[in-house]
Amino acid sequence: MIKIDYSNVSSKVLGEEFGLNLDEEFAQYSNKIEEAIKNLNFNKDKQGKWLQWMNLGYNEETLWYVKEYAAMVDGRFDNVLVLGIGGSALGARAFCNALLKPYWNMLSKEERNGFPKIFFLDNIDPDEITGLLNVLDLKKTLVNVITKSGSTAETMSQFMIIKDRLQNLLGDDYRKNIVATTDKQSGILRQIANEEGYKTFVVPDDVGGRFSVFSPVGLLPMALVGIDIDEVIDGIKVMDLALKNTDINRNIAAQNALIHYLMDTKKGHYISVMMPYSSRLKYVSNWYVQLWAESLGKEYDKEGNLVNVGPTPIAALGATDQHSQIQLFNEGKHDKIINFIRVDEFDNELEVPKIFEFTGVNYLGGKTINRLINSEADATAVALADFKRPNLTIHLPKVNAYYMAELFYMLEVQTAVAGELYNIDAFNQPGVEQAKNYTYALMGRQGYEESKHRLEEKIGIKTEGDLV
Ligand code: PA5
Repeated sequence: MIKIDYSNVSSKVLGEEFGLNLDEEFAQYSNKIEEAIKNLNFNKDKQGKWLQWMNLGYNEETLWYVKEYAAMVDGRFDNVLVLGIGGSALGARAFCNALLKPYWNMLSKEERNGFPKIFFLDNIDPDEITGLLNVLDLKKTLVNVITKSGSTAETMSQFMIIKDRLQNLLGDDYRKNIVATTDKQSGILRQIANEEGYKTFVVPDDVGGRFSVFSPVGLLPMALVGIDIDEVIDGIKVMDLALKNTDINRNIAAQNALIHYLMDTKKGHYISVMMPYSSRLKYVSNWYVQLWAESLGKEYDKEGNLVNVGPTPIAALGATDQHSQIQLFNEGKHDKIINFIRVDEFDNELEVPKIFEFTGVNYLGGKTINRLINSEADATAVALADFKRPNLTIHLPKVNAYYMAELFYMLEVQTAVAGELYNIDAFNQPGVEQAKNYTYALMGRQGYEESKHRLEEKIGIKTEGDLV
């Protein structure tokens, strides 16, 4: 199991002003945590509670269909192109970056064990898209378009460009190069997929985008490039079982949720930094940032009171950001809690040769880079504590599918428990709608006349053309 070392958030290390008396706090919140965990598990099958992500580890049927499709297309494509944004891209990208051999897309087909290259297009920069389309042979590319709502402008505009090109290249056969992941019955992509006859996978009901990595949203791209999704499922199950424990002393997700909540509300440490010491885990931080920000940044609590709560997540990377952000973390405002992820055993061991023996870098010779990166992780944690900065370390025994699944599932449960502590709905995102509505108005989408008028009144922007 992954483990978390909390010693550097404790008042024993940081003192009363900056640290938490963990024994006291755990005891004080034990009933509240017990209730939160019980509620989550009690409600997970109820419609409209958005807790179906807690069941994704047990969906044998979906697992079978994903594996069957991946086996069916095995060897047929050189590339997989994932079109999706936010929760429809970040999880799969984090898993692929962690679990595929580094520089995967630069390896030969043999080095990739016959599996395709994989590209994620999660933005609408015209230069990036043009550049990618210039280098990709679309005929040999399987396009996995992923959108739960089926109408996200970024994803659908990309898809419209690519579908058009595919059809021009392949005629009626273009459908074989498309697999759509979307809602089972509603949304524009579902309607298009049904009409045009695409192969589809379903984003299950009551699973929000940022909690969808273990649905076909994440599992399909993983399986297409040969990631062992059975191992992923095993990791979820083991962690799910562990996190059913209602005793805060035995539930790491609840502990971490409470520590973050108290650091924010009692100590003013409202910024949560995610800093893995591993380049392979770089995108874990991006996924965490979305999960934490969209779930916990809320204007109203569950009773409708104006609260404007939410910790601010920040992505960092060790050791790289020791030369960028650590200065601020050590000496800036006392407003952060840093989450390190430390990989106990890397796949490779790399020794620094014993050269330059008569210089000041001779201490490096004969030591491994493995030792260096983990020494830097340990040293930074202690240095932060010296500066009275709370930090904790998540120990990942290895970077593999099993521990990645444990880590992601743990962070999902942690987020849900934090939502209970803040007494907010962690599963909606009303704050992203306003800008979306204005964009639709600017692009002339029918039904957004009200937003169009407000825009014109507020900033004098004239929306182009008629609403269509
Ligand atoms: O977590 C979320 O709900 C969002 O980040 C969505 O995943 C994102 O907006 C994309 O939505 P959709 O999958 O509907 O295209």
